[in-house]
Amino acid sequence: MEIDFTINGKATRLNIDPAMPLLWVVRDELNLKGTKFGCGKAMCGACTLHVDGEAFRSCSIPAEFVSGKSVTTLEGLSESEEHLHPIQQAWMEENVPQCGYCQPGFMMAAARLIEQYPAPTDEDIKNNITNICRCGTQPRILKAIRRAAEIKQSLKS
Ligand code: FES
Ligand code: FES
Repeated sequence: MEIDFTINGKATRLNIDPAMPLLWVVRDELNLKGTKFGCGKAMCGACTLHVDGEAFRSCSIPAEFVSGKSVTTLEGLSESEEHLHPIQQAWMEENVPQCGYCQPGFMMAAARLIEQYPAPTDEDIKNNITNICRCGTQPRILKAIRRAAEIKQSLKS
C-alpha cells in the first residue's frame, strides 16, 4: 500500500505493509536511527516520536496511521544545528545521558510536555512522562525539562 506522509518536514511516499509498526518504517525504510527499539510493547517510551505534534510510541502504531500526517523524529526536532531546540540545549547543559539509549524517547516526550506545560513542576513531569531509563538519569531529566521550559519562555520574550 502506498502511504503519503511528511517526515521531518519532507513529503514522503512509501510502498509498504500498512500494518508495519511506524518504528520500523522510520528506522528501516527511512534510515532514521534516532528512534529506538526498547520493549516493543508501548511500555518503555524509547520509540517516542511525534505525529501531528502529539507524542506517540511508534512501536505500537501501524504505518497506515500516519497517512496524510506529519511525523517528527529526534532528527527533525531542531530547525538546524545552529538553532537547537530548547530540549536539546537543556540536555547538553545538564549533561543528561549516560548510555544514551533511552534519551531520544525522553527528549521527544519532553518536547511535547513543554508545549502543554510552559512551566512544568516535577509532578507534571512525573505524571506525564512514563518513559524508562535503566541508567537512572531521571533526576537530570527532571532538571533538564525544567531548564528547557525556561529556555523556551526566554525565546518568546
Ligand atoms: S519500544 Fe516502544 S514503548 Fe518500548
Ligand atoms: S541513559 Fe541509559 S537507559 Fe537511559
